[in-house]
Amino acid sequence: MNDLQGRTVLVTGAGRGIGRAEALHLASLGANVVVNDPGVDIDGDGGDARVAEAVAAEIRDRGGRAVADTGSVTDWAAAERMVALAVAEFGDLHAVVNNAATEVNKGLERLTEAEFDGVVAVKLKGAFAVSHWAAVHWRRRHDAGDRTDRAIVNTASGSGLYNPLPTQSNYAAANAAVAAMTTVHALELGRLGARVNCVVPSMIRTRLTLGVPGMDDAPPADGPDAKDPAVVAPLVSYLVGPHCTLTGQVLSVRGGAITALRGWELGEGIERDGADWTQADLAARLGALPWQDPFDRLAASLGAALGTQGRQALEAMISAQLDRA
Ligand SMILES: NC(=O)c1ccc[n+]([C@@H]2O[C@H](COP(=O)([O-])OP(=O)(O)OC[C@H]3O[C@@H](n4cnc5c(N)ncnc54)[C@H](O)[C@@H]3O)[C@@H](O)[C@H]2O)c1
Repeated sequence: MNDLQGRTVLVTGAGRGIGRAEALHLASLGANVVVNDPGVDIDGDGGDARVAEAVAAEIRDRGGRAVADTGSVTDWAAAERMVALAVAEFGDLHAVVNNAATEVNKGLERLTEAEFDGVVAVKLKGAFAVSHWAAVHWRRRHDAGDRTDRAIVNTASGSGLYNPLPTQSNYAAANAAVAAMTTVHALELGRLGARVNCVVPSMIRTRLTLGVPGMDDAPPADGPDAKDPAVVAPLVSYLVGPHCTLTGQVLSVRGGAITALRGWELGEGIERDGADWTQADLAARLGALPWQDPFDRLAASLGAALGTQGRQALEAMISAQLDRA
């Protein structure tokens, strides 16, 4: 059931954190892994080719099969080359794990155009670019009569889905878009035998979450570590495997808890014959609906997760973040 022998998986952003743990786990189950990572800083600056190579070497040292790739997922031609590398090295590409991300956290009035575009480019366009070139390859194989099972696993964040965070216009918007794109691609690629799902890591100890209250504490001396970067890897390995039947799903992972996320859905509303609403009608009838305050929603999910006591403490924390940025 766990056997990924003979399957080739491309993992983006696999040089560090959650992606690295996914690459190691996939390889331990027998998959050939393309370890993609340009080794950039948290904000996308810089680059270090040794980051991807170190993970590929670690896999090979353990007896697995891996090749490093240092292209950026934001580069259309580099995304095409990643897919070509998988095929050249291992004969085919069965699955893509879109995991790469950067962060630049600032309040709306401080976030620059370049900082918005850069984060969206890695998370959203990057997932699109790599998935596009994988789909081009899968279309060719399908047209040639190949009916092999294929899969894409996208990666989103609670910031964008159930707890969009202040200072993350770019990151939250891109993550919400990745979840939306997951559904689109699941509906489109079913006819090629490809399943598309999305994982949503939560509260995992990587460089992205250092500094978040409660995240920089030491791992427990014994017992399971719910914040270990490896907690997402078993689910990802299942989702890329040939025995998985899920598609179009978005799954939160927090420690050992895997929870289906439900997207936007129609709620309460008002209606009349014709659309000639008066301002007074709208004020009275919309005002009577049971709206949920977005801050209360954030407090409900974040407050519990961070152990934050009450609305005032959370407001103070967010103000401090906005001021710091
Ligand atoms: N850590 C968490 O608690 C958490 C929570 C929610 C979502 N996530 C998501 O999980 C994924 C992994 O995050 P992480 O915490 O391991 O972060 P990380 O910073 O440790 O790892 C991300 C990797 O992506 C790489 N990367 C950046 N730009 C790239 C590009 N253009 N092309 C290819 N690779 C690139 C980086 O070099 C880095 O090694 C991200 O998609 C993130 O949004 C993480």
